[in-house]
Amino acid sequence: MTQHHTILMTPGDGIGPEVMEEVRKIIAHLNQKNATNIDLIDRPIGGAGIDRDGVPVTPETIEIGKKADCVLLGAVGGPKWADIDYALRPEAGLLKIRKDMELFANLRPAIVFDALIEASTIKPDVIRGLDILIVRELTGGVYFGEPRGITPLPNGERQGLNTQIYTTSEIVRVAKVAFELAQKRNKKLCSCEKANVMESGKLWREEVEKLGADYPDIALSHMYADNCAMQLLRNPRQFDVIVTDNLFGDILSDEAAMLTGSLGMLPSASLGARDAEGHQNALYEPVHGSAPDIAGTGKANPLAAILSFAMALRFSLDGPQLADALEEAVRQVLNQKIRTADIMDRECELVSTSQMGDAVIKELAKV
Ligand code: IPM
Ligand code: MG
Repeated sequence: MTQHHTILMTPGDGIGPEVMEEVRKIIAHLNQKNATNIDLIDRPIGGAGIDRDGVPVTPETIEIGKKADCVLLGAVGGPKWADIDYALRPEAGLLKIRKDMELFANLRPAIVFDALIEASTIKPDVIRGLDILIVRELTGGVYFGEPRGITPLPNGERQGLNTQIYTTSEIVRVAKVAFELAQKRNKKLCSCEKANVMESGKLWREEVEKLGADYPDIALSHMYADNCAMQLLRNPRQFDVIVTDNLFGDILSDEAAMLTGSLGMLPSASLGARDAEGHQNALYEPVHGSAPDIAGTGKANPLAAILSFAMALRFSLDGPQLADALEEAVRQVLNQKIRTADIMDRECELVSTSQMGDAVIKELAKV
């Protein structure tokens, strides 16, 4: 019998609910074929949470997320909630669920599909065959560091303050994940920080270097984050796995996404530590945001959300073959020149969010 799994579904705001609808359709299809036996528990997050519960995420939702096999999240945020205090904004809900579930390792793969090579603004020769993985630290650094805030100064000025802070254990646990992933890939790891100007970066480099002794099979290199931003454009295929902190990872992963043609293609997995019973907290979300400007127009690309679900099948739902099949279905759909607006190209067929989901299911049904 197919193993039973429970997933917390938090569609969120903007295009989040639209792209997650396509994931729902895929889950319904797999359930119906008995390939999976997945129950979904739905909860609002972000602005949708503020509107319903007065907070962007409730403690109950986080408890459900911890007990579930994983969380599938759409996107959060939008102009409607832009003036709310930081602590209660839609984004605070996302940061809180990441923090409370201790999802310290954020995996952001950037893969260039052959069929999409023309969709990138970068020359085809530079990106052909690109397959890199950014491992972003997700529960520390300047995103969470204290003290923080905006305070008035005696001279009438105001001061904005955030704190970049990392402890050795925070660095080591995410670096371990990166080393282990590199072992399953091309055995190259590049660690990025600003050790030339930041103490937290110096500590980062020293700890990663020390840990490297445990992984003699991995070619470890270190790079300043600004150089990494430049190298990603100059010669992205020099990289295999990149490990970096929360803020640099946020920026470098958007850059890596655009190498692939569209932010609408990039999935992500956020993982916690595995406990003694083998359970691992996990959350999967597309890297793109809530894109309020196109919400409700049917223009959103659901492939990042669908590929995030493929990552969930692989890492949380014991379904590596299903993950392969779903990724292959996406590849086939792209080969058939079926495109949403963000990846539209000459002589391709422009489809809506839901037509894209249908096309993936049609391919999936063949395997
Ligand atoms: C991301 C996003 C988030 C972040 C925002 C929405 C808080 O940009 O997941 O990359 O900065 O982490
Ligand atoms: Mg980001």
